[in-house]
Amino acid sequence: MSTPTPDVLIIGGGVAGLTLALDIADHLSVMLVRPAQDDQGASRWAQGGIAAVLSPDDNLEAHINDTLVAGDGLCDTEAVRFTVANGPSAIQWLIDKGVPFTPETDPDARYPYHLTREGGHNARRIIHADDATGRAVVETLLDKVAQHPRIMQRNDLTIVSLSQDDSGRCRGAYGSDLNQQWHSITARHTVIATGGASGLYQHTTTPTPSSGEGMMMAAELGAQLMNLEFQQFHPTCLFDPEGPAFLISEAVRGEGGHLLNETGQRFMLALDQRAELAPRDIVARAIDTEIQRGTLGHVWLDIRHLGTEAIRHHFPTIQAHCITRGIDITQQAIPVVPAAHYSCGGIATNLQGATSVINLYAIGETACTGLHGANRMASNSLLECLVFARSCAQALLACAQKQDKGLHRDEYRPPAQPAASAISQSALKDIRQRMRQVMSQHVCIVRSNAGLKTAMEQLKALLNSAEGLEGIQAAPEGRRLIQALQLAILTVLAAQQRRESRGLHFTTDWPHQQPKPTASMLSSMHLAPGT
Ligand code: SIN
Repeated sequence: MSTPTPDVLIIGGGVAGLTLALDIADHLSVMLVRPAQDDQGASRWAQGGIAAVLSPDDNLEAHINDTLVAGDGLCDTEAVRFTVANGPSAIQWLIDKGVPFTPETDPDARYPYHLTREGGHNARRIIHADDATGRAVVETLLDKVAQHPRIMQRNDLTIVSLSQDDSGRCRGAYGSDLNQQWHSITARHTVIATGGASGLYQHTTTPTPSSGEGMMMAAELGAQLMNLEFQQFHPTCLFDPEGPAFLISEAVRGEGGHLLNETGQRFMLALDQRAELAPRDIVARAIDTEIQRGTLGHVWLDIRHLGTEAIRHHFPTIQAHCITRGIDITQQAIPVVPAAHYSCGGIATNLQGATSVINLYAIGETACTGLHGANRMASNSLLECLVFARSCAQALLACAQKQDKGLHRDEYRPPAQPAASAISQSALKDIRQRMRQVMSQHVCIVRSNAGLKTAMEQLKALLNSAEGLEGIQAAPEGRRLIQALQLAILTVLAAQQRRESRGLHFTTDWPHQQPKPTASMLSSMHLAPGT
């Protein structure tokens, strides 16, 4: 089925996709493909806020330095400088769009909005909307997108692959609608903003994270995937075996929350001088160690000492959710565990979000710009979404001005797709569940050669079983499962190839760092048998 051909096709409607759409739509026609359910994706669930140098008491060099320290030697300094330098104007853009950031109540403060602290930051520099920043930003931007006459939203399509012409340029994408009809969308430029790969794991901080399908779609066209082994586990997800995934924001520790083990001891004090505000890799590993030592399966996060009023004021969303789960956080410590939260690796891009495939861009969590290195610092993710969406917009607008005659969309005729077919949902669900168990058991916070070898064998067996299911290539959910399995295999390969412990990648067999930090780079060619 053919669909109107936009100048720019944006796949994904979180903060990165929405920002880009709004930044180009006055000049270019846009098709924005978003999930039908608004609770999907990670942006909406981001609680803490957005890091930027906003207070006159802070400075760009300090934010740059904190980011480099958290990234454990692997950040791309140019990407860090670029992101931090563009942070303040990106925040102003959001303020101008009407995002209801929390105002400062201290009359002596030198910035009109309240700034909180999180792990790794040596200053208060996180602007936020209570403890539901992602929701406030997404809702404000969605409202603007809905009013824009040149942004066509499609909420009924699941994009499963990208299309490419004979010269290797990306020319749009294929997706299936709710009636299992294939659609091909031809576009001059295609932007992937589909989020990360935390869905490869069993326990996550958001209910419906993606599993890196966008990364594999790009890899299928030849894009490079960088630093896949650096999967971030947020230290504090609510321990709630019967309930939905729920994050307890790092801002809780930023405002003074204490981590306690089963004996009530504040264990971070002995491990790092930054205590609970050490970077996430360090805190998550310490919690993991305490959990292995104990019997409860969690540690405690205690904020009772802040007082009921302060807790209500700063953390209304967390307080309300915990009450529904039988926990009054003004009276009880909160049981917490680490959970898969953010993919520091992804599709390698330059500072404009361009990938190695012509006319294909990637922004947000799906991209790897080099900003995060081996460990993302808290609240630098929404910042990256904004800054790179806006620089990508500049690149697309500059391209449009050049009127590149070689890129006329009508010259391109996408090849036909196989008729969509039904497939056993229970078989797909079972394989996906087993993949998530394997990743959580062997490719988690602490890794080993033996565990990674087992994971590789089991994931390859699961991929074989999936590929053997009849009709799998013609079913959208089938293709997405194969992409998730392929990305899991590449993640394990990247982990196996890194013969050191650095940032989020910690292995008992290589506990030390190599002297020269090196990014990892893989492509879909590494999936070939015998690799
Ligand atoms: C949080 O509120 O802890 C999450 C924010 C982030 O991951 O940067």
